[in-house]
Amino acid sequence: MPNFDLIDAPQPEAAAHSRTFYLETFGCQMNVHDSEKVIGTLTQQGYHQVETEEAADLILYNTCSIRDKAEQKVFNRLNDYKKLTAQGKRFGVLGCVAQQEGERIFERAPYVSLVSGSASYRKLPEMLVRLELGEKRITGLDDRQTEETFETEFTTRSNPHRGYITIIEGCDKFCAYCVVPYTRGKERSRTSTSVLVEARRMADSGYTEIQLLGQNVNSYCDPERKKSFAELLAAIGEIPGIRRVRFTTSHPRDFTRDIVDAIDAVPSLCDHVHLPVQSGSSDVLHMMQREYTRDWYLERISWIKAAKRQISMTTDVIVGFPGETQADFEETITLLHAVQYDGVFAFKYSPRPNTPAVRMPDSISDEIKAERLQVLLDRQREIQRVNYSNYMGQVLEVMVEGHNQARGQVIGRTSQNKTLNFTASQPILPATGSYLPVRVTKTFPNSLVGEAVA
Ligand code: 5AD
Ligand code: SF4
Repeated sequence: MPNFDLIDAPQPEAAAHSRTFYLETFGCQMNVHDSEKVIGTLTQQGYHQVETEEAADLILYNTCSIRDKAEQKVFNRLNDYKKLTAQGKRFGVLGCVAQQEGERIFERAPYVSLVSGSASYRKLPEMLVRLELGEKRITGLDDRQTEETFETEFTTRSNPHRGYITIIEGCDKFCAYCVVPYTRGKERSRTSTSVLVEARRMADSGYTEIQLLGQNVNSYCDPERKKSFAELLAAIGEIPGIRRVRFTTSHPRDFTRDIVDAIDAVPSLCDHVHLPVQSGSSDVLHMMQREYTRDWYLERISWIKAAKRQISMTTDVIVGFPGETQADFEETITLLHAVQYDGVFAFKYSPRPNTPAVRMPDSISDEIKAERLQVLLDRQREIQRVNYSNYMGQVLEVMVEGHNQARGQVIGRTSQNKTLNFTASQPILPATGSYLPVRVTKTFPNSLVGEAVA
């Protein structure tokens, strides 16, 4: 999709502003990758990225509104730096808070000049020109009507070995608690051809790991009707040079058996599935509008467990959804034991604007939410202590992510997405991005420790 269609727009050179920008990202991997594309777009427009707000002419926050704390952080940050407006600096709010709050941001933070949701980023070059010409209140607030995806060949990826590719934007699921369908718009899939072209280009420039992104990757629907999600996964895994392929996030409703078959068949597909369950109680799942039951979810888990490879599983859970009883909560705990996840991201339910759950009765006090969250984390820690201890003595391949000089350790990540920190006896430490076998010598509930195998 072309992004630089400024045929009749005035040229940025006409404006007097110098051109440096600071961009800070809040929230999920989708936001991190959107920022990589925004940085590429701004750089292409002649802007230069700087490391601090003080050094920038344009200060951008790419925001998250999934829970109230994430949203509050953005307004706190704007407040901390508003004094910089006196020096002529301009502020822009991008991402989910921008889309959710829209023009209300100008009321709350009048020094902000640009408010754009992610579904309008393809218009960024045009919005930048208007900003440089001195416009005070520029908005890019596409509603759910947009059919476009934001792709750019100028993406500035921050890691030279491991890179994200968005395959689907938006979400049509409308879970009762979630703002995403309102902030990221409706589902739009990219063609499998354009995804594969981007993946091959990345492989050619040295990337060995690709992570496919989408709010709901398994509802991927190729506009060319050439490939299903599982076929696309396999095709990316077969690109020469690609050693690891990951994908996130999956929705149980769209999780099909052929995804497990693809993981079994193509060794470069990582043996890890993140499958958010949200609750172990079918009643709560019904109230959440998740469109599956506990048993239906557990059937998908049984497919994953039946795979030839040992596939690691992680999940997301919300505690304290309106109406969640103690018995419902205990069903979540029994589900954790039944599945034996290697990681759980657990959150206290946070009421979000525009969502149906805001109007639901039987809200749960913060005290009970906190109590349930703590119980859940404690129980899960015990499950992980056992799971991780099973790796003792095994040799796992890691990709080197960096070095912890203070501890004299190399930081590695396994195909199952586990952190495996290790020592290496060679005089030259293995380089970031390299792959090597490591024997596990110690285990913790959240990470492994080992020694490089000579
Ligand atoms: N409150 C708490 N957690 C939420 N999530 C999404 N919306 C909310 C909310 N309103 C969690 C879900 C989702 C993850 C990304 O964030 O568990 O899977
Ligand atoms: Fe939100 Fe549900 Fe869509 Fe995930 S699937 S982004 S939780 S609405």
